[in-house]
Amino acid sequence: MKPISKIAKGIAPSATMAIDSLSKQMKADGIDVVGFGAGEPDFNTPDHIKQAGIRAIEENKTRYTPAAGLIPLREAICGWLDKELGLQYQPSQIAVASGAKHNVFIALQAVCDPGDEVILPAPYWVTYAEAIRMTGATPVIVETTEATRFKLTPEMLEAAVTPKTKCLILTNPSNPTGMVYSREELEGLAKVILKHDLYVLSDEIYCSLVYQGTFTSMAALGDEIKERTILINGVSKAYAMTGWRIGFAAANAELSKAMANYLSHSTGSPCTISQCASIAAFSESQQPTYDMNKAFAERRAYFLERIKSIPGVSCLEPEGAFYIFMNIKEQLGRTLYGTEIRTSDDFAKVLLEKGLVAVVPGTAFGADGYLRWSYATSMDNIRTGLDRLEKFLAEG
Ligand SMILES: Cc1ncc(COP(=O)(O)O)c(C=O)c1O
Repeated sequence: MKPISKIAKGIAPSATMAIDSLSKQMKADGIDVVGFGAGEPDFNTPDHIKQAGIRAIEENKTRYTPAAGLIPLREAICGWLDKELGLQYQPSQIAVASGAKHNVFIALQAVCDPGDEVILPAPYWVTYAEAIRMTGATPVIVETTEATRFKLTPEMLEAAVTPKTKCLILTNPSNPTGMVYSREELEGLAKVILKHDLYVLSDEIYCSLVYQGTFTSMAALGDEIKERTILINGVSKAYAMTGWRIGFAAANAELSKAMANYLSHSTGSPCTISQCASIAAFSESQQPTYDMNKAFAERRAYFLERIKSIPGVSCLEPEGAFYIFMNIKEQLGRTLYGTEIRTSDDFAKVLLEKGLVAVVPGTAFGADGYLRWSYATSMDNIRTGLDRLEKFLAEG
């Protein structure tokens, strides 16, 4: 048989999804695992949004829509962008896709040619590197550390740019670190982006989940940078709608048209019922999002307080998203429960098997020596998980 494509062969499965499936399987097998792997809110989709979906079915809104999404949805997104982020876009500049992950994929397809380079600061969300490779472009990983609060600086960006650089990917707030770029930090990066005429894919899917300071969108820094920004967002995190699969990209007219063309030949259009529900999400009460934000803030505060008293682990205070990126470098080189811990993969595996706690190892995000804990889970789970970690470290 002839080999499958080189691109397909090179794609690694999503590590975050793998850990989550493993812990769900252990739970299904009756093992009492506490899972911190999920990148999704544990809340239910707010009622008024669910009702809008139900109404869509009852009113027979069950047919294809325009490839880039229903016009009323794109209008609702423009209204939301204006109200929440002070950004003015036309509905024709919005491309709605089947989840923000899909938007990332088509945005990169629209921007990259084989041979191009895309700058990707590490730690990074697992999907980007694979989505870049799928275009034939090369990810250029720039490692950031706790010294810059895991943020890319203008100097680091400048040093990574080559004549082949086409685009920078910025996740703000960050998954996995939870860091949020200030306006000044974004302005520093924007200068370098403009100097080298790059695109910037600004993934702002966690922008409604910020607990300290205010959020600034990259596209809010002025017309020149807005022209080069592909802003990605969606309903998954802010409205607890991960299963509805709706995301969007806002970009200049040429890019939006190119993305709509991709959509027209790939998915045809996003799920019509989910689009109708998303209109309610973007245009009706934002109170459920504020309530979720408050609950996440309480869990985050508890998590940070507890970590301070657990010897051998530490973390920076994340300003946004719902992740704690825990430094476990002191654990590397130790032997825990008979296993030599060489990497965060080893640590996560033993923690799952012996401590019954599921977390994602930092290697999945290009940063060994760390674990990502999602606090999109109940306070009870957080308490139990941290009790178990404490015991695991003390008795190992
Ligand atoms: C940074 C980031 N972007 C995009 C997504 C994907 O969101 P969606 O569910 O809309 O595909 C995620 C989900 O984990 C994410 O963490």
